[in-house]
Amino acid sequence: ADSLRALGAQEGLRVGTAVDMAQLGTNQAYTQLVADQFSVVTPENVMKWDSVEPSRGTYNWQPADQLVQFAQQHKQLVRGHTLMWHNQIPSWLTSGVADGSISNAQLREILHQHVTDEVGHFRGKIWQWDVANELIANSWDSHPLADGVNGDDFWVQHLGEGIIADVFRWAHEADPKALLMYNDYNIAGEDGTNAKFQAVYDLVKRLRAQGVPIDGVGEQGHLDTQYGFDAQRFQADLQAFGDLGLKVAVTEADVRTFVDNATDQVPTSQLAQFAQPEEFSEMLKGCQLVRQCISFTAWGVYDGDSWIPGTFGGEGYGLLYDVKLQPKPAYFALQQDLELG
Ligand code: G3I
Repeated sequence: ADSLRALGAQEGLRVGTAVDMAQLGTNQAYTQLVADQFSVVTPENVMKWDSVEPSRGTYNWQPADQLVQFAQQHKQLVRGHTLMWHNQIPSWLTSGVADGSISNAQLREILHQHVTDEVGHFRGKIWQWDVANELIANSWDSHPLADGVNGDDFWVQHLGEGIIADVFRWAHEADPKALLMYNDYNIAGEDGTNAKFQAVYDLVKRLRAQGVPIDGVGEQGHLDTQYGFDAQRFQADLQAFGDLGLKVAVTEADVRTFVDNATDQVPTSQLAQFAQPEEFSEMLKGCQLVRQCISFTAWGVYDGDSWIPGTFGGEGYGLLYDVKLQPKPAYFALQQDLELG
């Protein structure tokens, strides 16, 4: 059967993966899969701020440039990830803010410079930028603002909510052609409520009304088989963003479950073996059924290389390929969905 990228191309949908630059070029089987199966790539880590500017004023574009070059060679597009996020900020910055040697006014200038430098460096080479990442409060966050923005977020705390609009404006100035996205997880009520969707919706609607250059919303799609998944809501949410005139993308799909490490990370529950392909398929179908959905990206290539076990103890098995880089039922489910179109 055909590759995911070939099948996606028939319906104008880019199918992607997050790429780990510790594997690309060194792990041959991995590299081959990335080239053969996917038509859009996201750097899993190497465009994040701590990676591109590990010490102040010293830039390291090398691994990110390498990925962009690989993508060009293999006729892939690139999703830039991510410009403003509370995580993976360089320690020179966080420690400077903590000890008071960087004031809030200086922090704002440093962020402006970062956005200008990074977007400028890749100007013309990035299809979609995740400009602002994970700023809306979850049900478990302690200080949601009145409109649902997370008051404890590093950037909001120091620079106020207006920074969200500014960071989009700065990115647009540096690369007017890149699609600028707001990216977040649990949007489709994986906590059982629709509060997070509503807050994201209100945010992007407000930004549009203010003339802020935002082009779309990324739904990350980090699912867990133990919670179930409301596929109808997921699709309805994508459609609601689309109806605002925005593009949408599924940006970080994976479906984790509890695993039996003794048998090479196979699910401990039989049920999860069925739930995983089903939930992957539901996310993809949601995207296929919404005209404004432009890409579907899995957050990694194979179960031997995923963020999940490091964050959720005992869980894993979240991706399309197993620890031996063999395609799993979830892979064949997506292939079939794309075949049906
Ligand atoms: O760079 C160091 C390296 O020098 C060191 O040798 C190594 C030892 O553990 O750690 C390396 O840093 C790790 C980095 O990944 C690169 O491998 C960090 O410890 C680790 O925390 C980091 O994890 C990443 C995580 O974001 C951090 O927040 C994951 O790979 C990445 O998949 C994950 O991705 C995020 C998205 O960006 C945003 N949405 C959620 C998603 C999952 O958390």
